[in-house]
Amino acid sequence: MTPAIEVNKVYKHFGVVDALLDINLKIEQGEFFALLGPNGAGKTTLINVLAGLIFPSNGIARILGHDVVVNYREARRIVGVVPQELVFDPFFTVREMLSIQSGYYGLRNNDNWIDEVLNNLGLSDKESSNMRTLSGGMKRRVLVAQALVHKPPVIILDEPTAGVDVELRQSLWNFIKQLNHDGHTIVLTTHYLDEAEALCSRIGMLKQGKIVALDSTKNLINTSNGCLIRLRLSPDILPIKLQSLVENYTDNCFILKINSYSSIEGVLATLRVEQIKILEMEVIQPDLENIFVQIMDKADDVGFE
Ligand SMILES: Nc1ncnc2c1ncn2[C@@H]1O[C@H](COP(=O)(O)OP(=O)(O)OP(=O)(O)O)[C@@H](O)[C@H]1O
Ligand SMILES: [Mg+2]
Repeated sequence: MTPAIEVNKVYKHFGVVDALLDINLKIEQGEFFALLGPNGAGKTTLINVLAGLIFPSNGIARILGHDVVVNYREARRIVGVVPQELVFDPFFTVREMLSIQSGYYGLRNNDNWIDEVLNNLGLSDKESSNMRTLSGGMKRRVLVAQALVHKPPVIILDEPTAGVDVELRQSLWNFIKQLNHDGHTIVLTTHYLDEAEALCSRIGMLKQGKIVALDSTKNLINTSNGCLIRLRLSPDILPIKLQSLVENYTDNCFILKINSYSSIEGVLATLRVEQIKILEMEVIQPDLENIFVQIMDKADDVGFE
C-alpha cells in the first residue's frame, strides 16, 4: 500500500538556521502518528513542507504518492492541515468560511458534512458569527473545521488543542478518533504528551531538525530503562550510598531513579541498615513525558547522531 506520508532525505535551511536535517519518515495509511519535540525542533517546518506551504531545500516528500512539490495540486487536495498559527479572514462568518473553503476544493453540495463538522466541534451555534468576534479557542475550532471540510484522507494537526478548553479537547479527540477509525491517517503535534500517549500508536521525536526517536508508543514506553520511586523518610535524610539515584526532591519526598524493580530491594536494605523509616513509598512507571525527557537528554549527550 502506498504510504500516507513519505519523507526522504528532507532538509530545510532558513539562512543559517538548519530547521530540518536529513528527515526520513514513512507513515502508513490509517496510522495515528504523533510528531513530538521541543519548541523550535522543526515540527511546523516539516508540516509546512508536507502542506506545500514551503519548499524543502533538499529531498522529497510525498502524500499518498504525490510529490508535494511536483504534484502539489494533487497533494494539497488529499491533505487537511490545521495550522499552528491562528490565521483567518475577519470579514466572514464561520459557515461562509467553510463554504468558501469547500469551493476551493470544487465541492458544491457540502452542507451536510459542514453541519456534521460544526456539530462535532461544538460550533453549531456560532455558524453565523463573524470570525473576528470569536474567542481564541473558538477560532482554533474553526481552523480544525477548515482543515476537515474536504474530508481529506490525510489529516495533519499542528497543536490543535493549544488554548482549547477541556470539553472541546474531548469532543475534538472523539471526532478525530472516529475519522481515524474510518480510515483517515492522522498526524498530530502537541506539547501535551498525555494526549499523544493516549491517542497515537506511533511516535516520532524531533530535536534540532533531526529525528531522535521513532517507534510505537508501546515500545517507547516499555524499552525505557527503569522506573522511579518516591520516598518520604524519617528522618528526612537519604543515605550517601543512594544519593546518586536522586532525580528530584519535592514535597519532602525523594524521587529516585532505579534501573529495574529488583533494585528496590537494595534501596530498602540500605534504608534499613541506616535505620531510616519509610513513611510513604510509591513506584512510578515512566510515562511518555518521562521518556521524552530521557530521549531529549540523551540526544544532547550524543549530539543527535
Ligand atoms: N520562516 C522562517 N524563517 C527563519 N527561521 C525559521 C522560519 N520558520 C521556522 N524557522 C526556524 O526553524 C526552526 C524550527 O522551527 P519550527 O517552527 O519548525 O519549530 P516547532 O518544532 O514547530 O516549534 P514549536 O513547538 O515552538 O511550534 C526554529 O529554529 C525556527 O526559528
Ligand atoms: Mg510549531
